[in-house]
Amino acid sequence: MVTAVVLEAVNEQINNELVSSYTYLAMSAHCSAQNFHGFAKWLRIQSAEEYDHAMKLLDFLINRGGGVRLNAIPEPKVKFKSMQEVFEVALKQEQDVSKRIDALYETAQKEKAFSLMVELQWFLTEQVEEEKQSRDIVAKFQLIKNDAVALLEMDRELGSRGPEKK
Ligand code: FEO
Repeated sequence: MVTAVVLEAVNEQINNELVSSYTYLAMSAHCSAQNFHGFAKWLRIQSAEEYDHAMKLLDFLINRGGGVRLNAIPEPKVKFKSMQEVFEVALKQEQDVSKRIDALYETAQKEKAFSLMVELQWFLTEQVEEEKQSRDIVAKFQLIKNDAVALLEMDRELGSRGPEKK
């Protein structure tokens, strides 16, 4: 069993992960509509990863006796000025998720929810990686600016992403 505080906090994080998944999906659809199919593929894979993160936490609650509550997912932003803006929003989202995972870890500590602390170790490591990859992509956009050839090359490069092995 988990405490009511932990239950509330984990359910909130399940929602945050699903919000991330939905946002990446909207970004992917936007890129597809602009014919940047490589960016679209990368973002679609990312959306699936965020869904998996939500399922990891959902399974955690089920294994600890239940209490899953699925909150509403707001409509994501669907319009972006540029491909660069898409990934700037992605980076900001990852930074925000990192803060939320940190806060959840703090709650787990206070509530002496040791099994949740162990579960969250994976998320802490994953956020370091996810923030880094978004930051690297944004840095490349800043370098290439409006160079069409470089932008198409980046689209090709990100389109080579395959699903990560967990
Ligand atoms: Fe599951 Fe990228 O946060």
